[in-house]
Amino acid sequence: MAIAAVAVTLAPAPALAQAPAKEVDCTEVKCVALTFDDGPGKYAGTLLDTLKKYDAKATFFLEGQYVKTRPAYVKRMAKEGHELGNHSYKHPDFTKLTAPAIRAEIQKTNDEIKKAAGVEPKLLRPPYGLGDIQTSEVAAEFGMPIVLWTGGSRDWETKNEAAIKKQTLAVAKGNSIVLMHDWVKQTVDAMPAIIQTLQKNGYHLVKVSDIIKHEDLQPGDAFPVPEGWDK
Ligand code: NI
Repeated sequence: MAIAAVAVTLAPAPALAQAPAKEVDCTEVKCVALTFDDGPGKYAGTLLDTLKKYDAKATFFLEGQYVKTRPAYVKRMAKEGHELGNHSYKHPDFTKLTAPAIRAEIQKTNDEIKKAAGVEPKLLRPPYGLGDIQTSEVAAEFGMPIVLWTGGSRDWETKNEAAIKKQTLAVAKGNSIVLMHDWVKQTVDAMPAIIQTLQKNGYHLVKVSDIIKHEDLQPGDAFPVPEGWDK
């Protein structure tokens, strides 16, 4: 019987259509959350291929207007284990809107994401990372914490592959939340090298929720705590 048991142990694991989600504890291992705003951008498909190849997870803060025009990418993001967040419908500055207008921006985007991928976003990132007490109050109505970033790739500014790689690696430290954009072609082009370097340095590329779950954020709370919101 012992021989039979060994044979069972040595049998190869059956190939799974989709790998089960791995539990990563970011208090135990080094984690970085790459976050992509304003999408799905037109290079999202290439980015998703890269993330899949390196078994990396990411978070997408989506704009409702592009979810509506590119729903297949959004469906794929959810299916492949990435996190979907709300980045408004048309990217207005929330500090210049009334509460009902903010509410509509969030609701319309949640509705499009639900329609495209069958999931409801749990996190909000207001456009430009700008907000105030009113933004927090509306986010709280939706039960959403607000997630900003700890470092930016400055990809929208440099649009240069080498510069994006250098800046991203400079800000990607333990439990960093890095701001990037999947509409910047050079970002998507730089991604294989960025991921390879981070993984070689021992980082796990995780969803933003894996990092903030130790922060005990309540709906309407913003993380990292922004300067100048409490005015
Ligand atoms: Ni944005």
